[in-house]
Amino acid sequence: MKPKFSPFMTTPLPCLLLFIIIFNISTTFVVADLVQKACKKCEIDDPNINYNFCTSSFRAHSGSDSTDLRKLGAISLSLIQRNLSSSFEYVEKLLQNKEIDSYKRVRLNDCLDVYSDAIVTVEEGKKAYKEKHYDDANIKVSAVMDSARVCEDGFREKEGVSSPLTKWNKDMFQLAAIALSIINMHP
Ligand SMILES: *[C@@H]1O[C@H](CO)[C@@H](O)[C@H](O)[C@H]1NC(C)=O
Repeated sequence: MKPKFSPFMTTPLPCLLLFIIIFNISTTFVVADLVQKACKKCEIDDPNINYNFCTSSFRAHSGSDSTDLRKLGAISLSLIQRNLSSSFEYVEKLLQNKEIDSYKRVRLNDCLDVYSDAIVTVEEGKKAYKEKHYDDANIKVSAVMDSARVCEDGFREKEGVSSPLTKWNKDMFQLAAIALSIINMHP
């Protein structure tokens, strides 16, 4: 005689699946909560920070599902770093265009200098943050915010010239503002 199929044999699996689903939903909820909470606070602290920009920036980075504000702060610094490197590369690419006018070329080269200094500065800021030297970290990240402004303002000095880097500088400025806001929470 064949053993009869017992419906009870099948219960553990659906149960386990259900458990996994519920567990996942609840952790996702907790996780979303920290990014959301932190971004809400950033937005209140600094009107330059847009809540949606903040949450989507974090979500695009792996590890931001951490439930630790301190780790989120470290991620915010990495976000600036990545942004700066890609902005740097973008400017290099723009400069390869032979037809770019000489005024713009000078300004783009200035931005390249400013960005490469800022890349070093963020690295120093990361180190200070790791050591919980929040004042130093604050100074470094503020300097990065200035870099974005300096680069952008360079293009404003001549009438009729517009900055090809406005979006890049705005993103960088805002990412730095987010990092600054979290650093100032002394996580
Ligand atoms: C900089 O960060 C912003 C926000 O996360 C993103 O939308 C943008 O694509 C990044 N820019 C570069 C050049 O990586």
